[in-house]
Amino acid sequence: MFDQLDPDDLRQRPGAKWALADPGVLPAWVADMDFTAPKAVRAAVARHADFGYPLWDERPEQNPLRGAFVARMAARHGVALDAGHVRLFTELNQALQVVLHVATEPGDAVAVHTPTYPPFLESVHGMGRRLVPIPLTDSGAGWTFDADRLAADVVRHGVRALVLVNPHNPTGRVFTRAELTAIAAVAEEHDLVVIADEVHSDLTYDGFTHIPFASLCPHRTVTLYSASKSYNLAGLRCAVAHVGDARVRSGLAKLPPLLLGEVSVLSVLATLAAWQECDDWLFEAKATLARNRALVAGGLPEGVRHHSPEATYLAWLDCRELRLDVDPAAFFLERADVLLSPGPDYGSTGYVRLNFATSGPLVEELLNRMATAVATR
Ligand SMILES: Cc1ncc(COP(=O)(O)O)c(C=O)c1O
Repeated sequence: MFDQLDPDDLRQRPGAKWALADPGVLPAWVADMDFTAPKAVRAAVARHADFGYPLWDERPEQNPLRGAFVARMAARHGVALDAGHVRLFTELNQALQVVLHVATEPGDAVAVHTPTYPPFLESVHGMGRRLVPIPLTDSGAGWTFDADRLAADVVRHGVRALVLVNPHNPTGRVFTRAELTAIAAVAEEHDLVVIADEVHSDLTYDGFTHIPFASLCPHRTVTLYSASKSYNLAGLRCAVAHVGDARVRSGLAKLPPLLLGEVSVLSVLATLAAWQECDDWLFEAKATLARNRALVAGGLPEGVRHHSPEATYLAWLDCRELRLDVDPAAFFLERADVLLSPGPDYGSTGYVRLNFATSGPLVEELLNRMATAVATR
C-alpha cells in the first residue's frame, strides 16, 4: 500500500502537490504524503453521511476531539493537559495567527528558529510583528542553536512571544530536553508566551523522543497539533490548540464568537478515527519513511549535504557546494524534472527541501534524476 504508487494515478489527484507539477515532473515539495489516507479514516467519513450542524456548535465542551487529544498526549507523552483548555481551529496556520493576534501587538518582537516554515515567516511579517531569529546553525554534526544568544536577544529586542516548531520544519530536528529546558528558562524569566507547533511529533525516528513543551512550561504554552501531517489529512482542515496560558485564553474569549469559523463534523470524525483506530497505519507509514530517509542519505547527488532528519519526512539539503548560478530548486526543476521547495522561502539561499513521503521506487527515481542533473551539468 505504501510502495505501490503509480505516478499516473497520483497525477489525477486534485490536491496541490501533484496538480502543480507539470507532466513528467515528480513533486517533492509541499508536506503532503503520497500514501492513501488510512482506511478507518475513509470509512469514518463515508459512514457518517450526516451533514447537519454538529451538537458541539451549541456545546463546544462536548466536541470529542478535546478529550481525545488530551488522552493522546497522556498516553504518548505522559503529559496531563486540561480538556477544558482545548480549542479547535481549521488549521495550525490559523491558530498561530489567532494566538499571535491576541498575545502580541503590531510592532512586538516574536522569536522564531530560522530557517522557518514559510507560512509562519509570512504570518509574523504579515501581521506587522518583528521577527527575532533564533538561528539554527550547522555544527557539522547537526543543527544547533545558541541558548545564550537567545536569552540576550530576548532582552535586546523585547521579545513577547516565541514560536517553537518542534520537531522542526525544515531541519527535522527533535529538540532535546536540555535545549527545551533552556528555552523554558528564557520564557519564564522574560514572561514569554510560547506557541509550540508539535504537528510533526508523531513522526520521530528511532532514537529520538519528542518532549511536549507543555510538560516543561504548562502555564505559558499554547500547543498546536493535528492529524494533518502524520495521517495525511491536511485538506480536511482540523487542528487542536491546548491553551495553557491564561492570558491567551482570556484574549480568545473576547473575540467575536463566529470570527474564526468552525471545523466541519467530518474533519472531527476523521481526526478521531486517525487518533483512535490507525496506529497500524502510522506504524507502516513510519517504517516506509525510515527506509526512504536511508535512501535519501545514501542517494543524494555529489556536493549536496544534509543531516538526516530526526523526525518528519522532509530533508533539508545544502546545495551551496554545487555553486549553481541559479536557485537550486530552479536548477532541479529545469534539469531533473523534480519539484522541490526553494530554500529562500524559508529564509535560506542555497538550500532546498525534499519531501520523501512517497514510494521507495519514486524516491529512488527522483534521487537518480537529481544525481544525473548534477553529474551532467
Ligand atoms: C511545522 C508546520 N506547521 C504547520 C503546518 C500546517 O499544518 P495545517 O495545514 O494543518 O495548518 C505544517 C505543514 O506542513 C508544518 O510543517
